[in-house]
Amino acid sequence: MDNTLWFLLATSMLLSALFILYRIATTRSRSSSSSTATNSLPSGSLGWPLLGETLEFISCAYSDSPESFMDKRRHWYGKVFKSHLFGSPTIVSTDAEVSKFILQSDGKVFVPSYPKSLTELMGKSSILLINGSLQRRVHGLIGAFFKSPQLKAQITRDMHKYVHESMGNWREDQPIYIQDQAKNISFQVLVKALISVGPGDDMDFLKKQFQEFIEGLMSLPINVPGSRLHRSLQAKKKMVELVNKIIQDKRRSGISEVAKDVVDVLLKDESERLTDELISDNMIDLMIPGEDSVPVLMTLAIKYLSDCPLALQQLTEENLKLKKLKDQLGEPLCWRDYFSLPFTQNVITETLRMGNIIVGVMRKAMKDVQVKGYLIPKGWCVLTYFRSIHLDEDFYDWPHQFNPWRWQDKEMSNCSFTPFGGGQRLCPGLDLARLETSIFLHHFVTQFRWVAEADSIVNFPTVRMKKRMPIWVKRRREAAFSQEQIKTFRGTSMQL
Ligand code: HEM
Repeated sequence: MDNTLWFLLATSMLLSALFILYRIATTRSRSSSSSTATNSLPSGSLGWPLLGETLEFISCAYSDSPESFMDKRRHWYGKVFKSHLFGSPTIVSTDAEVSKFILQSDGKVFVPSYPKSLTELMGKSSILLINGSLQRRVHGLIGAFFKSPQLKAQITRDMHKYVHESMGNWREDQPIYIQDQAKNISFQVLVKALISVGPGDDMDFLKKQFQEFIEGLMSLPINVPGSRLHRSLQAKKKMVELVNKIIQDKRRSGISEVAKDVVDVLLKDESERLTDELISDNMIDLMIPGEDSVPVLMTLAIKYLSDCPLALQQLTEENLKLKKLKDQLGEPLCWRDYFSLPFTQNVITETLRMGNIIVGVMRKAMKDVQVKGYLIPKGWCVLTYFRSIHLDEDFYDWPHQFNPWRWQDKEMSNCSFTPFGGGQRLCPGLDLARLETSIFLHHFVTQFRWVAEADSIVNFPTVRMKKRMPIWVKRRREAAFSQEQIKTFRGTSMQL
């Protein structure tokens, strides 16, 4: 009887094992056959005629849960889906591998494609819109200049100057709007690097016109007198006139042997393809990160630090230690010092991941493209949406938590972390953005304690703080804030 039982048990175990093996084998072959099957258009909905799904996309982007548009569709259709956005049928990729493939592809496969108001304002020769060998040429020239130690040293000197001027004027009896301060500093630093214009009438003129210009970047594409787009185009025209004058002056007096600014770099190019129009258009476009992306990075870093006392403490200690060392040596800080602060760099990396200052990039397919089992038809747009990847649990534990420590033992993968894009169009200003932000943070935390009023992040059309991030500061040498003061400052904002 015992033997019969063992026999039955052994037979049933063998049969179960065979059954499991069979299931694994059939599942594998099914999945491999589906991956080799003809690539098909991703699932999804094209929404309403003409409007597509644009209104839902925008209303979600404005809301407190900007991920909801993507999250819903990822749940229904998977990480790659079709939609209809900003007037074009669009494949949305929130898949790291597919997005990487798109970023790495060259201009024969995908070309940039942006809403009409943006392309009109940027101008057809903007680096963000040109393609092929001309884009590679301009990118290479600008990139090499931005990487040069001379420019980093100049940026560091200019940042020191503008940061001291600005922070020296901060008062303790009124709120300081961090976003405005950061914009003012980083705009001046970038304009100097681009066209060597320092503080004065020309700078004030540029600041004023630039405000008009940038307002129209995501406006309705209607160019009639009085419209938003028209006013922005007029402002750009005035700025181009100023840059053209600078170009003519340089041509007359002879371009300096060693390039002092980006205009010099482009004027010195001998390929003769860089027209004055191309140079001046690009100088204006290159001011955008100075007014927008970089100051927003600085502001968000301060916002996240204000909400995470432990990270703030570690960052402050790291920076105070460096300051003390440099004071003892009697040396000013140089650009390499800032990159040598590992925790500060991790804070910046984490801010880039969470902040998603550039939420994604848009391309148009020049031919049918097959990727990872999907078909991207010729003529369709593609939106590689970085935000969903940066907040994907498959890559980041507790993705909505600000955790700079996660970068201590994590590689910055070029697939799941792309705040600066990738491939041929990888942002050439990435080092400058990090450098300027490190300098701003260093001077801020080593000089001040602060209490931040409540404020929230707005994500559309560009990322920014709703109330421009008001904070109350105290110089470090003075007594810390009392509990009463902290309550009052935080309370003020609640009532606003
Ligand atoms: C936090 C700051 C910044 C962020 C998040 C950022 C992000 C990006 C991204 C995602 C792209 C890729 C666009 C695409 O693939 O179509 C890009 C391109 C570019 N960025 Fe930045 N950027 C920043 C700062 C800067 C700075 C400081 C500069 C210098 C002026 C700069 C200059 C450029 C240029 C010229 C391109 C176009 C490259 C090309 O198409 O060849 N960026 N940036």
